[in-house]
Amino acid sequence: MELQKALLTRRTIHNYTADPIPEGAIERALEAAIRAPNHKLTNPWRFTRVGPEVRKKLTELGIELKCAKKNKFTPKFRDYLRQKYGNPAELVAVSQILNDDPFRRREDYAAAACAIQNFCLSLWGEDVGSKWSTGQMSRHESTYEMLDIDPDEEEIIAFVWVGQPEEIPDPPRDPLESVVRTTD
Ligand SMILES: Cc1cc2nc3c(=O)[nH]c(=O)nc-3n(C[C@H](O)[C@H](O)[C@H](O)COP(=O)(O)O)c2cc1C
Repeated sequence: MELQKALLTRRTIHNYTADPIPEGAIERALEAAIRAPNHKLTNPWRFTRVGPEVRKKLTELGIELKCAKKNKFTPKFRDYLRQKYGNPAELVAVSQILNDDPFRRREDYAAAACAIQNFCLSLWGEDVGSKWSTGQMSRHESTYEMLDIDPDEEEIIAFVWVGQPEEIPDPPRDPLESVVRTTD
């Protein structure tokens, strides 16, 4: 896909089919991710590809958290969530190495955010959908344990769900004129 087209058409995908994604798409997206600009070349990102065993445990955690949030504990809702979380072909956690210096830490977050966008755009260039999520599951202490990430060393800044879109939403954007200023 042409770059500008990918930039303009990428959308956050909330619902996925259970179809597989092209072989090597994740590896290509990771190669794109680590090309993101990063000041002082800190390479502040770590990517954790979630395997099937941990994915199952995370799914159960996610279901419990969502049921509690919605105060809805019916078997039907649990089944719906199990399928929703199970459908995306891949789940990747992106964490940021925590630098002691607050300014460097802020810059590292910016760099890691660029890496996530590169990752998602690379996938979208192959018509593969993704969603950057900072929902409860990505921040829960059990998640750190399951992924073997030390919260004193790294912060999980995204769960990226990856898969074949079931539908492509089109949320509105504010018009360009409302966000761009030009000085004399
Ligand atoms: C830092 C960050 C965190 C996000 N976390 C969530 C999330 O937890 N759940 C969600 O549905 N979308 C999340 N999103 C996606 C945004 O909601 C989405 O980008 C926004 O609605 C605009 O839609 P678009 O990406 O299709 O343009 C997140 C995006 C960013 C940049």
